[in-house]
Amino acid sequence: MAVLNLNERFAKAFVNEEELAATAKDVRAAYGTVERRDGAGNDFLGWLDLPEAYDKEEFARILSAADRIKKSCDILVVIGIGGSYLGARAVIEFVKSPLYNNVKKDTPDVYFAGNSISTAALTELLALCEGKDICVNVISKSGTTTEPAVAFRVFRALLEEKYGVDGARERIFVTTDKARGTLKQFSTERGYETFVVPDDVGGRFSVLTAVGLLPIAVAGISVTDLMAGAAKAREELLNNDVENNIALRYAMYRNIFYRQGKVAEVMVSYEPCAAMLNEWWKQLYGESEGKDGKGLLPDSVIFSTDLHSLGQFIQDGTRTMFETVLSIEDMGVQFEIPNDEANIDGLNFLSGRELDFVNKQAMLGTLLAHNDGGVPNLLLELADRSAYSMGYLIYFFELACAVSGYTLGVNPFNQPGVESYKKNMFALLGKPGYESEKEKLTKRLK
Ligand code: PA5
Repeated sequence: MAVLNLNERFAKAFVNEEELAATAKDVRAAYGTVERRDGAGNDFLGWLDLPEAYDKEEFARILSAADRIKKSCDILVVIGIGGSYLGARAVIEFVKSPLYNNVKKDTPDVYFAGNSISTAALTELLALCEGKDICVNVISKSGTTTEPAVAFRVFRALLEEKYGVDGARERIFVTTDKARGTLKQFSTERGYETFVVPDDVGGRFSVLTAVGLLPIAVAGISVTDLMAGAAKAREELLNNDVENNIALRYAMYRNIFYRQGKVAEVMVSYEPCAAMLNEWWKQLYGESEGKDGKGLLPDSVIFSTDLHSLGQFIQDGTRTMFETVLSIEDMGVQFEIPNDEANIDGLNFLSGRELDFVNKQAMLGTLLAHNDGGVPNLLLELADRSAYSMGYLIYFFELACAVSGYTLGVNPFNQPGVESYKKNMFALLGKPGYESEKEKLTKRLK
């Protein structure tokens, strides 16, 4: 079987030939923009070649640093926000487990910090670190983002108190721009080992750089397999064959549904290990397409859990969404439903059945029901949850996102809207240089 297949069976009835032909033409043109590298934001296309053209010397250093971290700590604290943490967390939870930190293993726990400004989140993590050996990987491309900067300040002080300045140096790993930013400057002064976020790779496209690779390797996942899966996707998907290329077809369907007036895409999985993958996907598509008054709102659910919360709305509420369902064909584990002589719950018709069989029937039943409710469904069939398949899936989503964004008519690689909250926050906090803004905002808040 292919690593990834796009099954259109539950979407086809919702599109007609004219829509397919017109949008296929636009998608082919959008792909041309990616291929020629002449569209808006074209200086951020480095991720296209990463699976082949990554820095091999740095890759070896990542593996060596991961080995040292594994040997010297109980907990790796990964500090970063947005594209600087979502990818690593998504891969670790998908390939290993959402319960990774709680299961028996010979690799360190991996906790994420600096992705909020929550006092509770920070103090709870600090309490958890008490009496444990810790390493820190701080990740910030700009090196100036407030949330991770605050967390790094705290964890650096903790490490220096515990191990001394020299000891802390051995335990702090920095992933940032190769030359710019206060974090880079500070790291050079302190002599921390640094890894690079390439200039031409934006945060949300950076999981296959040191940003994702170091924490993923520490969790005992083969980053070589991850890159090989992405390389396979690159080999198979970098072409303009819109009839057969699944990345282009996914981009095409998204744009058809958007043009039909759908305002939201719901990413569905039937496995809790995909919850953080959903979050990574939401950032990738939300930040890339949600601009200039355009874009599909990316939403996500885990079924069957959320069939008991959002299921009602999707089946029967405002008809404004389509779903993309990620089905993992082989989860690599089996569990047989036991027999119960008394059959108190009336479930003996399932005795001896694989639990996964029940899950798959729930999925098929839901696909049909949601189709009946007027919701188109795209079905992504992924072979398994291996690092290789995950690498393939990541590249698929990234490429489809770029093509989909250009088809929509936006620059998929900038995020001007993210600055607005930062400006207001700095003004309200009294950051030097924001005095006049502060006055205006204070008046509005009276
Ligand atoms: O995708 C993006 O560019 C953003 O989500 C960034 O990753 C996020 O804002 C964090 O930025 P930085 O890595 O500069 O701290």
